Amino acid sequence: MPGSIRGSSSSGRLKEGSATTETYDLTVIIPTFNEEENIAAIIEAVSGVFRVNGIRGEVLVVDDDSKDRTIEIVRAIAGQRDDVRLIVRREDHGLSQSVVEGFGAARSGILQVIDADFSHPPKLIPRFYEAIRGGADVAIGSRYMRGGNIEDWPIKRRVISLGATAFGRMLFPEITDPVSGFFSVRRDVVAGAPLAPRGYKILMEVLGKGRWETFVEIPFVFKDREEGESKLRVGTMVEYLKQCAGIVRFAVARRTGPVWTEWTKIVRFGLVGLSGILVNMGLLYALTEIAGLYYLVSAVIAIELSIVNNFIWNDLWTFQSARGLRFGRRIQRFLSFQAVSMGGLVINMGVLYLLADIAGVYYLVANLAGILIAFAWNYAVNRHFTWVGA
Ligand code: GDD
Ligand code: MN
Repeated sequence: MPGSIRGSSSSGRLKEGSATTETYDLTVIIPTFNEEENIAAIIEAVSGVFRVNGIRGEVLVVDDDSKDRTIEIVRAIAGQRDDVRLIVRREDHGLSQSVVEGFGAARSGILQVIDADFSHPPKLIPRFYEAIRGGADVAIGSRYMRGGNIEDWPIKRRVISLGATAFGRMLFPEITDPVSGFFSVRRDVVAGAPLAPRGYKILMEVLGKGRWETFVEIPFVFKDREEGESKLRVGTMVEYLKQCAGIVRFAVARRTGPVWTEWTKIVRFGLVGLSGILVNMGLLYALTEIAGLYYLVSAVIAIELSIVNNFIWNDLWTFQSARGLRFGRRIQRFLSFQAVSMGGLVINMGVLYLLADIAGVYYLVANLAGILIAFAWNYAVNRHFTWVGA
């Protein structure tokens, strides 16, 4: 399903890198560290995919000074063919750093990253390639969309990965697998981008700092390696959190890009919510004390008018899509917003009741939890349904 991020920086792409000779149409970057069991087979598999699909592609192995026979094996293959190259890195060891080095050395305008251990099926490469040629800036192999899956992962790794992915999705809510290691980008997206590669999740860095607008996700089934072992370490999690922080800092400093665009909406939605509370309280007071209505009657009117207040601000300010819209369409949006808000109210009350009455949490604390969960619900549903495409 094609998606697009609007409002992100669209001011011309960086030209760096375009000067490099483009001898090939596609570069498949394979980062390696101690992959002697897999490397010959994966190179052969990728070359086979090029051949069968008529793609003018090159394979670029970026090795971090492997201690096994990986380098020797790749050297032997590269010595016989122009379309296989090896870079051996001796400093600044790291998967992300290696991938970025591969970006810089590629001799084509389309860059594909794939693991050496067959966790990512090479036969899908043409789909990524076609997606980019079809106009997408980024193509992402997703384990977490319909059709995607993970095979043979122990429960512990699943949980860690889900946690990392959930965190990443707070930065890129439109993308189901922003930490995928299987992806493809147009070179212009990363050329000249101030990437600060660290840790394992180079795609996050590309999404956070690259110049892109459109993306496509391609579902795939992640198969755990049969040969060798995973190099994921505890430090990787810390690196990941630092990386997320860096992406947020970048977004705040530049005030453009997908992270900034999304979080502007979330913050505005929150401020509108606060304004709704003021409207609600003010009306409840005025209708009861000044107009002399029974307070529950005032409350119903106050709630409804605060929903109207929130709708207007969200339509004009948060999602900014109101100009030139047909009146009927706006009424439709309002009804949707109204329904979602009622749902939010029920969620708020439900959480309050469950936590306070059943779990024994202090009721003001329970209410705060209810408000936060209702807020998440309201934002997510309105973002994707009420203001779909906004
Ligand atoms: N150059 C280099 N340097 N390559 C490395 C390094 C390194 O420090 N560490 C790992 N690699 C290579 C491996 O040789 C393999 O080709 C690929 O990077 C993935 O490494 P694995 O150790 O097999 O990763 P994984 O299976 O735990 O992690 C996978 O899942 C992640 C998502 O959960 C990878 O696909 C990641 O890319 C992905 O982000
Ligand atoms: Mn692996």
